[in-house]
Amino acid sequence: MSPPWHNDNAPENQFTRMVGAYGYTSQLWVNSTHTKVAKCVQKFHTRSVVEREIYWGQLCTGPHFVQLLDHRKNWLLFEYGGEPVSPKNLPLNWKEQVAEIMQALDTVSCSHNDLLASNVLVKDGILIVIDFQWASLGNDMTCGIGLDGRKKLHGITNNLVSSLAPFDHAQLVL
Ligand SMILES: Nc1ncnc2c1ncn2[C@@H]1O[C@H](COP(=O)(O)OP(=O)(O)O)[C@@H](O)[C@H]1O
Ligand SMILES: [Mg+2]
Repeated sequence: MSPPWHNDNAPENQFTRMVGAYGYTSQLWVNSTHTKVAKCVQKFHTRSVVEREIYWGQLCTGPHFVQLLDHRKNWLLFEYGGEPVSPKNLPLNWKEQVAEIMQALDTVSCSHNDLLASNVLVKDGILIVIDFQWASLGNDMTCGIGLDGRKKLHGITNNLVSSLAPFDHAQLVL
């Protein structure tokens, strides 16, 4: 299995599995030039997770989000968004950036609902939020476009400060 965008003619179109990208619902692939990531969604199709990610991928734009480049069936193609956030790469002004992120989400009435550290990347010192599979329009899981209306089963998390604070504390003892 390889992403539908894979072909051998250009490095930009050669994808390999991402080592260490432990997605819970997906398999992740990165291209040789580290500019694009392909995500194969393998669970929760009845919860409209792919459609939800496409919907929010088109609405959430700006420095703190990755661009959705294309989609085919259960595959999504995103711009590469950097490395997973960690105590080593947490930007010093991360709280300011979190405020910007929450403001950007608020502008489009987006509740991300899965704001865990595992859904935050860092690229050139900028925090980037990914994984909109459980996002809702305010409290409306249908997003007003007829998506599956059931809420995420376990742990709705919209407090990004709490999710990242442990990394800030960990910086002190590195
Ligand atoms: N656009 C991207 N750029 C770089 N890494 C990514 C990107 N999208 C996903 N990843 C990596 O893959 C992991 C799983 O992706 P994610 O979209 O969160 O899938 P899941 O829905 O399975 O949790 C992330 O934690 C991250 O390490
Ligand atoms: Mg995730």
